[in-house]
Amino acid sequence: MAGVPTTYDDPVHIAVIGGTGLQTLPGFTHAATLTPTTPWGAPSSPLTILHHTPSDSSSRKPTPIAFLSRHGLHHELAPHEVPNRANIAALRKLGVRTIIAFSAVGSLQEEIRPRDFVVPDQIIDRTKGIRPFTFFEGGMVGHVGFGDPFDNQLAAIVRKCGHSLEGEGVRLHDKGTIICMEGPQFSTRAESHMYRSWGGSVINMSALPEAKLAREAEISYQMICMATDYDCWRGEAGEDVNVEMVMGHMKANSENARRFVGAVLDELSKEEHGEQVLAKHLVQQSKWAGSIT
Ligand code: ADE
Repeated sequence: MAGVPTTYDDPVHIAVIGGTGLQTLPGFTHAATLTPTTPWGAPSSPLTILHHTPSDSSSRKPTPIAFLSRHGLHHELAPHEVPNRANIAALRKLGVRTIIAFSAVGSLQEEIRPRDFVVPDQIIDRTKGIRPFTFFEGGMVGHVGFGDPFDNQLAAIVRKCGHSLEGEGVRLHDKGTIICMEGPQFSTRAESHMYRSWGGSVINMSALPEAKLAREAEISYQMICMATDYDCWRGEAGEDVNVEMVMGHMKANSENARRFVGAVLDELSKEEHGEQVLAKHLVQQSKWAGSIT
């Protein structure tokens, strides 16, 4: 965009990865647009640096936030084409230690209705192993813990913000297990029933390997899910998922999605969350950071 700087010198500690239907984050001051490259190629989209003035103090310097559109600026990347390693590496190089990732999901439970939000706490991996899923290879061996794939402290902040919007039409489920499938085709009905029998709450194609790579890069990571459909398990009780349904609900509820993400950014920008935002509790002697920064 003309006139917007293409470099940014200060470290940026917080990032938002926008998913289907959340390709931009309006309402913030556009401070720079960066087009970095990494040893794993270019990220899905340019990194937009946004300035946010936290509501606890207007006298402080604005907080910089990096925004990345997972599927590209014009939704041109299918889930299996997303350059996840480049995305996480580009953000980490900028200084990012906390990621809020947004995703449209199918609901596997009656009580999770289209347009409801879920702050998941678990993931079941149903990707096919064809997406590059680790930074640790080629002689650099590392194993990180992934028992809790999201960051519990960050999740608590996100839940609090979601609940604060409940009077304004946001419905929030505090927990849930994401089934992350390969796609790009949706599930068969037999698979959808199987995922329900496994205890799956919601289904998407984007949580992995993004969450695994963030953990390897020592970045505190939490996904916010928004239900757009009931997949195909309801049979005659409802229409099967299709792209128009996903896009329709995303568009109709995008204002709530933006308010939710905005509330989380406002909270994270407060001084009291400084340690959390720097993910100091996550440092696990990863070899990754030294290898790229
Ligand atoms: N994203 C949104 N709805 C979905 C579904 N039913 N299955 C997989 N990914 C989705």
